[in-house]
Amino acid sequence: MSSGLHPNLTLVQSKALRLLFTKLRDKNTSQVDFVQYSKRLMRLLVEDTLASLPTVEIERQTPTGLFKGLESTTIPSQTCVVSIMRSGDALLESFREVEPAFKVGKILIQRDEASADKTAQFFYEKLPPGIHEMNVILCDPMVATAGSAIAALDLLCQVKHVDPSQITFATIICAPEGLGVLARKYPEVKIVTAAIDESLNDEKFIVPGLGDFGDRFYGT
Ligand code: URA
Repeated sequence: MSSGLHPNLTLVQSKALRLLFTKLRDKNTSQVDFVQYSKRLMRLLVEDTLASLPTVEIERQTPTGLFKGLESTTIPSQTCVVSIMRSGDALLESFREVEPAFKVGKILIQRDEASADKTAQFFYEKLPPGIHEMNVILCDPMVATAGSAIAALDLLCQVKHVDPSQITFATIICAPEGLGVLARKYPEVKIVTAAIDESLNDEKFIVPGLGDFGDRFYGT
């Protein structure tokens, strides 16, 4: 399913995701349960994100007949999963559980809580050499203003020369405001998300959202 908010957006929806989101979004869910339910939800998102990458039609002989199937053409060693730390690390690990041969990149960007508009500031990056020749899966569970995402995409595209069309951005909840920003600056980046929420509140948190993903996942 797609949405008019971004030209390259895939909104993944299922009853399983809704069940998991109900646990995850509940403010009374404990840290232990939050970790377990978010890992289950992220695993579904990971599979849908990988399925959104190029595939070819193939046929396979089953024990009893012929199956018309699909095969991914993505080469894991030429694919880099990049986490926007720290929340992105949780999603990154879900990708690595499915495919340990993926290369890994890390970017640390933090909101300046003292500034009125909470501007995103770049602190650190560790990316594999030759990333401009790889497919890139960028991970951040929550896209609110998209400030961190834009800073990460600027680094990947303008400094590391990755073509935006090589990038898939995996995220579990997006605000419409952030999707609008991404659509204006990076319309070629493919986005795979499991929810588009209503809006942002005055503190730039997603509503209804789930609060601070990193704080709830890591218990800080
Ligand atoms: N990051 C989060 O973890 N939650 C939000 O609501 C917004 C950004």
